[in-house]
Amino acid sequence: MNGKPARSMVQIRGLSKGYAEGGGAHRILSDVDLDIAEGEFFVLLGKSGSGKSTLLNLMSGIDQADHGSVVIDGTNITQLDERRLTLFRRDHIGIIFQFFNLIPTLTVLENITLPAELRGGNADARALDLLERVGLRDRAHSYPDRLSGGEKQRVAIARALAQDPAIIIADEPTGNLDEETGQQILRLLLELTRDVGRTLIMATHNPEIVPLADRVCRIHDSKLVITLRDSQPVKELFL
Ligand SMILES: Nc1ncnc2c1ncn2[C@@H]1O[C@H](COP(=O)(O)OP(=O)(O)OP(=O)(O)O)[C@@H](O)[C@H]1O
Ligand SMILES: [Mg+2]
Repeated sequence: MNGKPARSMVQIRGLSKGYAEGGGAHRILSDVDLDIAEGEFFVLLGKSGSGKSTLLNLMSGIDQADHGSVVIDGTNITQLDERRLTLFRRDHIGIIFQFFNLIPTLTVLENITLPAELRGGNADARALDLLERVGLRDRAHSYPDRLSGGEKQRVAIARALAQDPAIIIADEPTGNLDEETGQQILRLLLELTRDVGRTLIMATHNPEIVPLADRVCRIHDSKLVITLRDSQPVKELFL
């Protein structure tokens, strides 16, 4: 990030989420506050089951909180009805998952243009340009089952960027890839997001990402622990 004061992209206040369990309640997140600035690369760590995906799903409005608010780019998404939330998510948030979530019956190109088609625009030119940038222009008419894991994730990145969202949320985007492919995907993701001023929020188990992040956080006992990575050896962050 450069030196100018950054606009707030994500403001989370008093966010709590739990699940009913054997008559009791299993707290996943308790009273979480978090601010993420425009252009920040924010990394979320934490043991499996600690609540990383839960927090990301609350940020993107895929899931609903028990208490608290999530403001994305000035809009309180916890107050939107389902229809408005879907539209808001489509236009403002790009989401990338560990298992790619491509639609198998659509071609690569159709997977990328689908959200824009719903909006009624002709999105082919932008989709082809994005495919060029992720190095898959010649696979536009292939079906996802013909692609490798890394190629599928590159398509998923292109799809997430199709609407030029202000925020990109990635849930373990390299978790299902070998180390080298994971590194390539990460570099590509940073090039196409943070390097052009977009906000990138990522949950990961991959320690190699930590030195690249602007800020690193861990979820521990349902609380968010902000970690200043400069003052801490990378290894400690994973304890
Ligand atoms: N729909 C659900 N019903 C009940 N419990 C759930 C549900 N979804 C998630 N959980 C529980 O919430 C906790 C947090 O899950 P979450 O998927 O957020 O963890 P995570 O940090 O993303 O883990 P991982 O690193 O394995 O992806 C887990 O204990 C999980 O079992
Ligand atoms: Mg998860």
